[in-house]
Amino acid sequence: MGKKGKLCVLLLALALVFWTRGEELTAVDGPAEIAGDQPLVALTFDDGPRRSTTGELLDGLAERGVPATFFLIGELVPGNEDLVQRMEEEGHQIGIHTYDHVQLTGLNAADFSAQVDRTENVLAQAVGHGGFALRPPYGLIDNGVEKRSGSALILWSIDPEDWKYKDADRVAEHIVSRAADGDVILLHDIYPTSVAAALQVVDRLHEKGFLFVTVEEMARQRHVELVPGQVYRSFCP
Ligand code: NI
Repeated sequence: MGKKGKLCVLLLALALVFWTRGEELTAVDGPAEIAGDQPLVALTFDDGPRRSTTGELLDGLAERGVPATFFLIGELVPGNEDLVQRMEEEGHQIGIHTYDHVQLTGLNAADFSAQVDRTENVLAQAVGHGGFALRPPYGLIDNGVEKRSGSALILWSIDPEDWKYKDADRVAEHIVSRAADGDVILLHDIYPTSVAAALQVVDRLHEKGFLFVTVEEMARQRHVELVPGQVYRSFCP
């Protein structure tokens, strides 16, 4: 090989090194690379974890590289810690949906704490940190809930009533036909039909150019501060 040949090989090798590095950087930087005009949506799942369905959902989301937000029931965490840890490790956001799915309105301080703080402790033990958003069951909020909540209250802007219809195609169509930038989508990861609907929604909205983010990331991208006790339904511009 002549001098020119060696130089070519060297340049090619260098180019390859930089090209591969570039790829790595893009993957790691993920969220920071979101284009300002790319429509964002947040998938949120209530009432889990349930081993038979949540695991399958996590598999499907991992295959598609999609993060979601899970509002968990405290009493379902013991025995399912591995699922909660998997959510944490795979970039999902974890939130509180009370200890045994009761409505939070009208509760005194002690009963509120038994539902919310107790769940916070169970989750903190599972993942090693606190600071979880709260989704009150049935979306029911009163002054007491707003006053007592140590975190933001996350509701939703699209509700396909997946628990009622248990029909993946119907639920997916409801969401895909309405989804717009900033929407927060309500689903329940305890029904196989909801898991199927969620993955269908991901594939169809990806085709339309949507990007899926956690609720926290959505707020960050839209420069919205999540204030404890304040209610958020969507982050539509
Ligand atoms: Ni619920």
